[in-house]
Amino acid sequence: MAVETNGSSNEPAPPGLAGIPGPPHGNGANEKRNGSLIVVGTGIRTVGHLTVEAVAWIKRADKVLYVVGDPVAELMLKELNPAGAESMTGMYAEGKPRIDTYNEMVERTLACVRAGLVTCMACYGHPGVFVYPSHESIRRARAEGFSARMLPGISSEDCLFADLGVDPGINGCQSYEATDFLVNCRVIDPSSSVVLWQIGVVGDATFKPYGYDLSAMPLLIERLLSIYPPTHPMYLYEAAVFHGCEPVIRQITAAELAYGPLSAGNTLYIPPAYMRTADPTTYLRMNALIAASKAASGATTAR
Ligand SMILES: C[S@@+](CC[C@H](N)C(=O)[O-])C[C@H]1O[C@@H](n2cnc3c(N)ncnc32)[C@H](O)[C@@H]1O
Repeated sequence: MAVETNGSSNEPAPPGLAGIPGPPHGNGANEKRNGSLIVVGTGIRTVGHLTVEAVAWIKRADKVLYVVGDPVAELMLKELNPAGAESMTGMYAEGKPRIDTYNEMVERTLACVRAGLVTCMACYGHPGVFVYPSHESIRRARAEGFSARMLPGISSEDCLFADLGVDPGINGCQSYEATDFLVNCRVIDPSSSVVLWQIGVVGDATFKPYGYDLSAMPLLIERLLSIYPPTHPMYLYEAAVFHGCEPVIRQITAAELAYGPLSAGNTLYIPPAYMRTADPTTYLRMNALIAASKAASGATTAR
């Protein structure tokens, strides 16, 4: 496969990364010969969410293979690296299993790394959150002896916490992919928050540009109603992608999931339905241990 470069390999690595395991830095010639992989996230609202570190790597890479869902993110990547930016979005096709597309993305990424390029994979959101090709590319690049690492980004769940005012530290938070939740007997604690990803594509493993096959939705509703009271409020959430726009937050009940409209960009947030259950025995044992430890350290100091 022919791979072009933007001739930037002799530029130094982005600042602040010396000594951190990852793409080799300091010797441009070695980098070009060896190839390396850096995976970055563009965030949900690229303008504002793209980190300084990610920008530095996008500019520095020979090739930027990207999967982003909006034109602003695409424009930004092309501006940051005009010669190296290459979209992988065209690998999706109507009715094609998404896993086939993901494997093609991994192959294209590995081809660039093997060709000796400093390769940057840029995915929207956090590049390691519900993104198979990024983890798989890193795993395979490392297995083949290349340097590969991931930088964190801002995920849609991060936006959800901010927009819905949810602190996962208060009640705990369980996070599942909707189809995985449905078919794998996941155990939900309804006293904690629950986030269901890919609610708008539940049961459909293919790509559809408009409207997924949601025939499996009644099963998901049935499952939710076996856990939650029928009137329990749930929130269909879509974070704002463009600067100046507001998030879309729609309060519904489980049964109303049947009526849509749902999109591939929807996430379902379910607040706790019940108070958490205290465990007084463990609480008392914990305090007794802490008191014993304090008494022991007091005795040692007194000596
Ligand atoms: C393949 S996952 C990618 C997630 C992405 N890596 C991230 O960090 O958010 C796609 C799912 O992420 C969630 N998602 C993506 N964009 C979103 C948005 N703008 N608002 C809310 N959820 C979103 C939805 O659950 C969607 O089905």
